[in-house]
Amino acid sequence: METWSALAYLVAAICFIMALRGLSSPVTARSGLRFGVAGMAIAVATTLALPGVVSFGPILAAIALGGIIGAVVAIKIQMTALPQLVAAFHSLVGLAAVFVAAAAFTNPAAYGIGVPGAIVAGSLVEMSLGTAIGAITFTGSIIAFAKLQGLVSGAPVVFKGQHPLNALLGIILLAMVVTLVVTNASLAYVMIVLLSLLIGVLVIVPIGGADMPVVVSMLNSYSGWAACGIGFTLENNLLIITGSLVGSSGAILSYIMCKGMNRSFISVILGGFGGESVAAVGGSHGDKQVKSGSAEDAAFILKNASSVIIVPGYGMAVAQAQHALKEMGDTLGKEGVQVRYAIHPVAGRMPGHMNVLLAEANVPYEEVVELDDINRDFAQTDVAFVIGANDITNPAAKTDPTSPIYGMPILDVERARTVLFIKRSMASGYAGIENELFYYNNTMMLFGDAKKMCEDIIKSLQA
Ligand code: TAP
Repeated sequence: METWSALAYLVAAICFIMALRGLSSPVTARSGLRFGVAGMAIAVATTLALPGVVSFGPILAAIALGGIIGAVVAIKIQMTALPQLVAAFHSLVGLAAVFVAAAAFTNPAAYGIGVPGAIVAGSLVEMSLGTAIGAITFTGSIIAFAKLQGLVSGAPVVFKGQHPLNALLGIILLAMVVTLVVTNASLAYVMIVLLSLLIGVLVIVPIGGADMPVVVSMLNSYSGWAACGIGFTLENNLLIITGSLVGSSGAILSYIMCKGMNRSFISVILGGFGGESVAAVGGSHGDKQVKSGSAEDAAFILKNASSVIIVPGYGMAVAQAQHALKEMGDTLGKEGVQVRYAIHPVAGRMPGHMNVLLAEANVPYEEVVELDDINRDFAQTDVAFVIGANDITNPAAKTDPTSPIYGMPILDVERARTVLFIKRSMASGYAGIENELFYYNNTMMLFGDAKKMCEDIIKSLQA
């Protein structure tokens, strides 16, 4: 049986690796997803077939209940609310790690790691790690969820002595782990849980809304390491492998997001950044003139262009304009206009946000080009068509060292002959800063909802 289960776990682990590989590109994402589902089905079935598993009733009831809740939530969730959903799910992974460790601590004989009061030292270390990381993930994810959902303010909560306090709590936590390993005292275990829950809150509250998606991906990484720690306690190789895959992929994703937003990973973790800086701009803009146009004006310019680069952003997701946008692109394509889509790594509110929406609208993958590969082409392009994007086009990232987004790579749309900008108002984007580009001579604002504007442009193109 042991050989069979080891083999099955190996197959499941390979499926998970293939899943990650597939999910790294929109072209292969669907097959990646299938590998993930297959791997998880094999993992669950193999675990249920282990001789140690006897209470099938409660396990199957829990699987059914969890499966139904998961399916309902997944069907109902809005694309724009995915980051907080992921945060909510991670909180459960953290809590599960704490529960498993607590079960192993109170009934070590069932796990073959000793008897109460005389648990193997190595297991106590693994258990402490799983518990600490799990508890930090639990409360940290709840705070991240509350911030993203708007239940509490997204602004950083900072107070004097915050970092020394966190450091002190970290040291006490370490002392409790040592105490637990040496004495097996239940109080030390309870202290580890409580301290870790508190640290989870304190580490996440100073992080501002703008950095929250990075935090969610970091918590994703933590939940993986918590599962990995528990894998050692349970002597379950698959949990160790899966936990490591989740842990390392989450860490890599956090790093990529930090790079895309030009944030230092350490500064995000230490917190106090990315708050709601400047209020939305609107109304008076001094002497600066804004040129605005209609759907007919836009259709005329687009029809007469030979190349168009479309730059989608968060507003496209809000308006669900991807289908209308694709139809507009196709209509232009039939007129002989070369149409491509430029993707900024942090456009929208989650990694791959724009890719997913464009794929949903069946935009061919070869028309979708990443920032590094397309930025040079704006200078030879007739029209940059910016739809619901703002920060990712803001030249302040290149020119204003005082800007919060200074240093973030942006799409150089201003180099195109004409920039068409669809948005509803002069309001700022996520970073809360004004975009000079709206006032440039070659910019024409198209004020309105992204979907409605695209539909109107299509009508004008076809008229
Ligand atoms: P934003 O800078 O947030 O701008 C989106 C714009 O869309 C807004 O200015 C808004 O202007 C417009 N908009 C909203 N609803 C609309 C609608 N229905 N129709 C038309 N326009 C609409 O978005 P972006 O350019 O995609 O940049 C992403 C930002 O999010 C960056 O600052 C990035 O750092 C941050 N961020 C991204 C991620 C990831 S991983 N993607 C993670 C964390 C943070 P109006 O209100 O005037 O319409």
